[in-house]
Amino acid sequence: MHINFHVLGTLANTIVDPISLNYKDIPNFPVSTVEGHQGNLVFGTLSNVKVVCMQGRFHYYEGYILQKCTAPVRVLALVGINKLIVTNAAGGLNPNYKVGDIMFIKDHINFLGFGGNNPLRGPNDPRFGARFIPMNKAYDRALIKNAKEITKKMGLEKSTHEGVYVMVGGPNYETIAEVNSLRMLGADAVGMSTIPEVLVAKHCAMTVFGFSIITNECISSYDDETEPNHQEVLKAINSKAESLKEFVTILVGNIAME
Ligand code: 6GU
Repeated sequence: MHINFHVLGTLANTIVDPISLNYKDIPNFPVSTVEGHQGNLVFGTLSNVKVVCMQGRFHYYEGYILQKCTAPVRVLALVGINKLIVTNAAGGLNPNYKVGDIMFIKDHINFLGFGGNNPLRGPNDPRFGARFIPMNKAYDRALIKNAKEITKKMGLEKSTHEGVYVMVGGPNYETIAEVNSLRMLGADAVGMSTIPEVLVAKHCAMTVFGFSIITNECISSYDDETEPNHQEVLKAINSKAESLKEFVTILVGNIAME
């Protein structure tokens, strides 16, 4: 199993018997453009399950083409990973979502993909998967059910949701008109990552589970004077770090028992 923890790089610290490989020491692996950004593949165990954690991921807005952003997913496939947990920080579009809430991703809207920007574009490599792939069952239903039971037991029921994630290119946050149009599309949370990795994971038949941490509420009124900023995003993540570590540790244990 592989755990992708970008927003919770600290989860990598809970991995038992870790062996950490710096991205720069892995041939042809992308290296983060962001100063001080962690970049390690951490192998070890969590709940006695063998895992690989990506401490640091690659965003389209950093300037990589999507094939480069998602190359690590293929590396994981090649080392035998068949289950992927993806996470991200996202702005809440759904008015019921509060800062610090968790949204299990039940579906997504690939905004970049509408225009043809897709990591699977180009000649298909059949060693990984088929040319045309279904996406209607991209996010594993059984794992969402399992996750809901865990958060219920943890007393987090009121702050967890199941919703639709939309990815935009970033790096800017959305205008008010953009927020309102994404709501009309049926999205509950907006972010700048994750969907490319999910596409590449589904191409090679991985089971995928994902969740967003709602780090800020999207602003949808011209009367609202507040502005989204990276500090509030980081603050919301840090405030949830401990309970999310616990959640993921239990989830990984449960997946192993399936
Ligand atoms: Cl408000 N928008 C986008 N695109 N990404 C985000 C976000 C908002 N908040 C956290 N990540």
